[in-house]
Amino acid sequence: MKKYVFGNPVKTGAVVKEVLESEDEISVFHLSEVQDGLEFSCRMGERDVVYGLGEQVRGINKRGFSYISYASDDPIHTENKHSLYGGHNFLILYRADAPDGKSFGVFVDDPGKVVFDVGETRRDLLLIRTGKDCVVYVTEGDSLKDLAKQFRELVGQSYIAPKWAFGYQQSRWGYLNESDVREVVENHRKHGIPLEAVYLDIDYMKDYKDFTVDEERFPDFQGFVEKMRREGVHLVPIIDAGVKIEKGYPVYEEGVRENYFCREENGENFVGAVWPGKVHFPDFLNAKARTWFGGKYRRLIEQGIDGFWNDMNEPAIFYSEKNLKKVLDEISSIKDDNLDLNDFFHMQEIVEGLCNHPEDYKSFYHDMDGVKVRHDKVHNLYGFYMTKAAAEAFDQIAPNQRILLFSRSSYIGMHRYGGIWTGDNESWWSHLLLSIQQMPSLNLCGILYTGSDLGGFGSDATEDLLLRWMAFAIFTPLMRNHAAAGTRRQEAYQFEAVESFRSLIRIRYALLPYLYSEYMKAALSDELYFRPVSFDYPKDRHAFFVEDQLMVGESIMIAPVYTQNAAGRYVYLPEEMLLVRMRSDKERTYQVLSKGHHYIDVSLKEAVFFVKKDHMLPFAVLEEDVRTTQDVSPERIVWIGFADKEAEYVLYEDDGVSKRYAPKEDWKTIRLKKEEMEGF
Ligand code: GLC
Repeated sequence: MKKYVFGNPVKTGAVVKEVLESEDEISVFHLSEVQDGLEFSCRMGERDVVYGLGEQVRGINKRGFSYISYASDDPIHTENKHSLYGGHNFLILYRADAPDGKSFGVFVDDPGKVVFDVGETRRDLLLIRTGKDCVVYVTEGDSLKDLAKQFRELVGQSYIAPKWAFGYQQSRWGYLNESDVREVVENHRKHGIPLEAVYLDIDYMKDYKDFTVDEERFPDFQGFVEKMRREGVHLVPIIDAGVKIEKGYPVYEEGVRENYFCREENGENFVGAVWPGKVHFPDFLNAKARTWFGGKYRRLIEQGIDGFWNDMNEPAIFYSEKNLKKVLDEISSIKDDNLDLNDFFHMQEIVEGLCNHPEDYKSFYHDMDGVKVRHDKVHNLYGFYMTKAAAEAFDQIAPNQRILLFSRSSYIGMHRYGGIWTGDNESWWSHLLLSIQQMPSLNLCGILYTGSDLGGFGSDATEDLLLRWMAFAIFTPLMRNHAAAGTRRQEAYQFEAVESFRSLIRIRYALLPYLYSEYMKAALSDELYFRPVSFDYPKDRHAFFVEDQLMVGESIMIAPVYTQNAAGRYVYLPEEMLLVRMRSDKERTYQVLSKGHHYIDVSLKEAVFFVKKDHMLPFAVLEEDVRTTQDVSPERIVWIGFADKEAEYVLYEDDGVSKRYAPKEDWKTIRLKKEEMEGF
């Protein structure tokens, strides 16, 4: 691993491993100075492949477009978008044609805007544009898995969620009160659908004020949390970045008094507007402000809460007080004019442009422990440091307890403190594919605990879309059905096919011993839970061009169906594999398929996956009334496998709640003969 330092970079906290600064010039790139920054460029061979960049649009191979790391609250994730919610500046350039040099991984530690032009301007050029101050880490090698691991060792161990957070979770913006939540739980129980958590979106708060609970909606919050826990259900409240400006509201008052909010050049607290109306933004980049804000989670934890989602932390700004005034003035000045088309469109543009305006991000400052830093220079750290604030507080409040924590905005480094969800997607088939493609890219950047809003957040979900999405999401660590207010209800029990949903979710629970074991091994060994197919089959040229299949853990490959009205799909098998087809956790069939392309029928009711040669996996035998992860017994397991003679599996188990993770020497290697496995 080589480290190159340019200018005078801020300490982002992304990296945990000490690396000495290299004395040589950076060799894999040609470096030039451009306006306001640096440009790193290198040639790409025709068949070279680029992996990584975390949360972005488009495929697993990132070639052919440019991606901008600049956290953005943009809910329309179409393929023309250059930025989503995170800044994940790690990529691997895999050299298929050796004469162009070795493959390498590069991490650009610059929390401001960074552009990755991966062959958009010129198909054969990789261009990375950074600010003047940054640190660049480069590691060369031949093995994709090894390059990924070296990077992960650099940035430290990924966040580990409690085991219950691998169960099925239900959310919706619009559950208003106790009775709404109770209804969701009762309906899942009535239909025998396992359920682990219900999310509390912004409506649980009093007027969207962080760390308050609306007492009319939840008259006995602590009692209700306890009651739900007895039902096996965890409640997971949202925490937003912006603090409502309201006299008498303690969080606001304290923040003002102690100077904990982000300030403008003239020292006044910056005013933006988000859900609560006008807000100040806590200066999470300041250690004292972080400790203060983190400490606020305590009250909710004392009331029995053990999971949180941090939101709106790009930070999203619907409008700033200043900019709104400017725009309103401009509009009122043209009030009586006979507007021509250009003026009309200009007016429309300035109104739409109020949201997340680049000038707003340049107009406030952080006090990074004595150093004043303009926000846009460190923009991508904001969500990371909000989540760090929470996680560091949890370490004080409940040092040995795992608390569920994930965020919308993130930067590499945050992966040690929490996971992410992929924000406001839509109930579109294309977004099911996008979610599949984002998973390995996120894992490469260290973000293992992740998933998308299952069924889609915006727009109306249809039954078939939700079934296909579910059949994929049974493999994502975060499996949460979430939707926007005003969209069609999409809880599993709202549909005719409730039995099929029940079966798919039960299959998730039956797979838990495997999925959890694979997640934990990946986290504790700095490896990938989701991998592009080529990572396991680097000698197979076809494998590099597979954009819609993933390796999940050691033993299996998945090939989700993601198109409307499909009876199944084509699958590429890089070797002979065992097709496992499940109608339910009890009805399983097996078929050996040869290496190559196959058309696989997959009905809406089924889940399918493929077992690699000489591999096996544990599969739980479920009782009829399984309700939560606690009802899945590690003792009652069958082994599904595919081997000529025998196979081996390393099983990870622990208590699932404490931070006493099992050391490697306690991982159990299980070796079984073909006859002892279920399969073919
Ligand atoms: C944002 C979040 C979404 C949430 C909504 C209301 O759009 O991304 O998940 O439901 O805010 O809080």
